[in-house]
Amino acid sequence: MKKRIVIIEGDGIGPEVIQQGKKILLCINKKFNHNFCYTQAVAGALAIRKFNNPMPDNTIENCLQADAVLFGAIGHSKYEFYPRGMRPEDGLLRLRKEMKLFCNIRPIISYSDINYSSPIKHNILQNVDFVIYRELISGIYFGKKGRLTNGEVAYDYCIYSKDEIKRIGKLAFKAADDRKKKLTLVDKANVLETSRLWREVIKEISLDYPNVQLEYLYIDNASMKIIMNPMDFDVILSDNMFGDILSDEASLLSGSLGLMPSASIGENNKGLFEPIHGSYPQAAGKNIANPLGCILSVAMMFNYFSLYKEQQLIEKAVRSSIHNHIITKDIANPLEKYYSTEQVGNYIESYIKNH
Ligand code: IPM
Ligand code: MG
Repeated sequence: MKKRIVIIEGDGIGPEVIQQGKKILLCINKKFNHNFCYTQAVAGALAIRKFNNPMPDNTIENCLQADAVLFGAIGHSKYEFYPRGMRPEDGLLRLRKEMKLFCNIRPIISYSDINYSSPIKHNILQNVDFVIYRELISGIYFGKKGRLTNGEVAYDYCIYSKDEIKRIGKLAFKAADDRKKKLTLVDKANVLETSRLWREVIKEISLDYPNVQLEYLYIDNASMKIIMNPMDFDVILSDNMFGDILSDEASLLSGSLGLMPSASIGENNKGLFEPIHGSYPQAAGKNIANPLGCILSVAMMFNYFSLYKEQQLIEKAVRSSIHNHIITKDIANPLEKYYSTEQVGNYIESYIKNH
């Protein structure tokens, strides 16, 4: 298969994890005789320094022409309080918006071999396997923002249209139908008008999916249930902000934020694949960051291209590295040896070559 990929390293540990993700991408490319070519583009702090823009137009154009983007991380403390539009995070938001990636998919799986690395009781972690569908380009993240009264008052509008809810709702129902046939809509419908609209639209779509059980949970209740009865969930659907918060919380179930991949898809037939861990500047340059979130994001990219054998082989390699404890410090048993970012990437690469 022929595909064009744009690779963006970004900030903090981005370049290190991307190096491993790229290694796996190229390794699969060779093993399965695909024709994936890639170019690199800049974003984040480096782009602010070079072009005074966290997401240069040129990077956006490259991404719009590609079939997929593999993204490392974004965020840098130096620019944290820069004006709106100039922060590294703003760059990522702009890219998501320009690529029309309205649906962010974050799978949550527990790995029994590393249960000890989760702060949650081990009996709760049996068979956790659900996926969060988070709306990604609307809601409070993108509503009008501003200050009034000489800056003493601030506001962020949370706005959703029926169409925005419908397009992700359909994808979430389809996912639930293909999985364990349960969809949980997480909102705050006891308070928010947007949540009420979400319920109306989702209920309407549910008529087309009689086999899928639809459940509604308020966000406060859901954040409790997600760590109390995580095996009760299959597909969780939520707006931009609630999905952001829930997915970090849910990462505790798998043991580390470093393990978590994500896919962002939309209407343009192109996707963006990124680990959810963020730039983690304290670990940058130390070769200790967990590359599995990035590598599993590459697996999600192959899934997106319907290359399931490739996806499964990567996932098998990751399981093997976890099972054999060829893992980074964040998920290693404190008394055991741990491996560097690069060593974990090398293990996965050689597993793929040999299987
Ligand atoms: C995420 C991140 C981003 C978000 C930040 C970096 C803007 O937390 O992808 O979850 O809030 O969407
Ligand atoms: Mg987040």
